[in-house]
Amino acid sequence: MVSSQKRALGLAFIGASGVLRNVLNSLIRFVILTSLLVFSRSATAQEPAAHVASESRALHSNLIDPAAEQKIDVLLRKMTLEEKVGQLVQYSVGQPAGPVTGPTEYKDMIIKGQVGSLFNITTARDSNAYQHIAIENSRLKIPLIFGLDVIHGFRTEFPIPLGLASTWNPELVQQLARVAAQEASATGIRWVFSPMVDIARDARWGRMAEGAGEDPYLGSAMARAYVLGYQGERLSNPDSVAACVKHFVGYGAAEGGRDYNSVEISEHSLREFYLPPFHAAVGAGAASIMTAFDSLNGIPASANPFTIKEILRKEWGFRGLVDSDWTSIAELIPHGIANDPATAARKAFLAGVEMDMVSSFYHDNLANLVGSGQVPQSDVDQAVRDVLRLKFALGLFEHPYADEKKEGRAMLQPKSVALARTAAERSFVLLKNSLSNNEAPLLPLSDNTRIFALIGPLADDAAAMLGSWSAQGRPQDAVTLRAALVEKLNVDRVRYAKGSDITMGSDDQLAEAVRTAQESDVVILALGEDGPNMTGEAASRAHLGLPSRQEQLLEAVVATGKPVVLVLFSGRPLTLPWAFEHVRAVLAAWFPGLQAGPALVRTLFGDSDPTGKLVVSWPRAVGQEPLYYNELNTGRPAGKADLTKPPWEGTPKYVSRYIDEPNSPQFPFGYGLTYTSFSYGPPQTSSTTLSAATLNSGLLDEKRSSNSALTVSADITNTGTRAGEETVQLYVRLEGTSTAQPVRALKGFQRVKLAAGETQRVSFRVGPEGFALWDDHNKYVIEPARVKIWVSPDSAHGTEATLEITK
Ligand code: NOJ
Repeated sequence: MVSSQKRALGLAFIGASGVLRNVLNSLIRFVILTSLLVFSRSATAQEPAAHVASESRALHSNLIDPAAEQKIDVLLRKMTLEEKVGQLVQYSVGQPAGPVTGPTEYKDMIIKGQVGSLFNITTARDSNAYQHIAIENSRLKIPLIFGLDVIHGFRTEFPIPLGLASTWNPELVQQLARVAAQEASATGIRWVFSPMVDIARDARWGRMAEGAGEDPYLGSAMARAYVLGYQGERLSNPDSVAACVKHFVGYGAAEGGRDYNSVEISEHSLREFYLPPFHAAVGAGAASIMTAFDSLNGIPASANPFTIKEILRKEWGFRGLVDSDWTSIAELIPHGIANDPATAARKAFLAGVEMDMVSSFYHDNLANLVGSGQVPQSDVDQAVRDVLRLKFALGLFEHPYADEKKEGRAMLQPKSVALARTAAERSFVLLKNSLSNNEAPLLPLSDNTRIFALIGPLADDAAAMLGSWSAQGRPQDAVTLRAALVEKLNVDRVRYAKGSDITMGSDDQLAEAVRTAQESDVVILALGEDGPNMTGEAASRAHLGLPSRQEQLLEAVVATGKPVVLVLFSGRPLTLPWAFEHVRAVLAAWFPGLQAGPALVRTLFGDSDPTGKLVVSWPRAVGQEPLYYNELNTGRPAGKADLTKPPWEGTPKYVSRYIDEPNSPQFPFGYGLTYTSFSYGPPQTSSTTLSAATLNSGLLDEKRSSNSALTVSADITNTGTRAGEETVQLYVRLEGTSTAQPVRALKGFQRVKLAAGETQRVSFRVGPEGFALWDDHNKYVIEPARVKIWVSPDSAHGTEATLEITK
């Protein structure tokens, strides 16, 4: 290993992947309940310390304000039951994003105090118009709260969340969530239905695009970054918006990857994998939560008292607002747990869903349910209190209107657009750069190349760059790859051919593309999915290849023999084994947002190096899904067997495997190349034994974020000839425990910048949480175990170190 220079890096604290401590004894219960009242430490222990500093800021944006509670008391005394129910009712104005079951005219309802919230309004003029009705014409002048799906930016569209997570940079995500908050709030939107923190293990599920991928540790870091960014220093600041963390819970595990489908997750897996990002968001002070569409173990998530009342409210002490998803209360009928709207309303409400998005079932039924004694009045009062508390916290009673004069100025500020370019650059994952077949790396491209062919339906499609849920993002604000390439090289050096439409294509288009490739020195192929229509909600796919004739286009262009760079635009990994074998360079660009073109051109030509890493395991074949790195070992692991051959060619048969495809992904979680290369020295641990008793008492300690149980270090060397940046990952495996634990679990990551030839020692401080698990009684503890540890570039490589946790 080259070692020209060594220096120790600052230690990064590594928290646990565990969630809450519902558990150990009455002491810890006390700690949780009291600390959660002020949204303090216990709710957030699973995060790295780098993010802990900013956490304290979240404490100021909490919902605790005794003066507001008194005002709420006064209001509650004045409100009629109808007005109370009104606060629990939410409707969509504008473009519907789902079935509409309730009324569509709201003016009279607002005057009567029958509406608490509206969403899908996108201008200050419209939000003010509705707000004027509420403030000037309703009896109690309670302001409306306006919401919107601001998922990856409002007007300044950033990369889709899957791309943002691929940056492995929560600080960056926090910054851009702040920009989104500033733009959205300028139109009067003070509530964003984001972040989506569903763990997604199945690329067939279109909504994988909206989240942070498959890992609870990284997902928690991202969850908290969004919340801190949206909510800012204080919720009452006019440019802060309340986060709505969704979809609680389990939605990402939809069977078969089919959207809205049923979900079965054991309590163990729920706690170990699916709940942590929600818990992290709550710990960061998230003001609201949205319940999911799915049925979870037979009980729809929007009527699930176990997850909402037991876990969210009791264990986590969540004091924010619980909203339903779009008509998810009405959907209790087709789910089969209610035969009429009144029953659906009763079940959802008693389970803890406080606001009814769109279905109007609360509007129609809640007052009667209170009248007949089926729903306690005190529960309605509590739900109304939670709505009013949010409105007070946001300062809506004092400042209900948006300033229409300032609205325009908030949008697309140069700093915001620059951030969008940076975010896009950091989101790209370089999957291949001719490393597998002895050819020189094709990327970065050389300026000296004479003629570039730019081919493909995604090369010049501005709308597609915005991805799904693009809020107020406008195609005219987006710069395509074609526009940016022409800007850099001048039009005479860029030959463009569409080659195919995204979902259709003709022989003529194909022939023109082949001619264009033949006339060039290098081909940039821009292929992939239709962002707005093939990814996001209601966009599950059973086939994960390139749509339509794009695979044919790809193969025809590669057949010209010209060097080809494939830029892949998608909201999920695509199964493209042929491309990964035959194309010299492949860059996963996701949907990069409005700065797509400049970010791509800078990356392709080496003005910015790709540094993103995968947050989802990239499948070889659809049949491998769901595919995730943190799987259990099984009783018959395939181990190191060669699974490229079937058992009848002499490979093991009675192991957990496919006979026609390796188990391994095409590219593992955590993987990503850059324009230099790194080598990793073996991990060194500060100790070879730890005591479970000591670790468990550390787990109970309020200040455990500073309690490191172990330091793990490794030397990382830049073995290339160019400076570069690497995201170094720490993984742990526990063996001999009461519940089977993942073959690897991410417990930390940090970025290092290394000059060519430079070595740095990277150190991780692992707290007790790094060794905690959910045991066979669903308690969060540390057990005696054999521990394996890796410091590695991704989830599939690295040298292992071992240690022992004794009693
Ligand atoms: C349904 C989606 O599931 C949810 O994510 C979104 O926030 C709501 N519709 C509101 O548009």
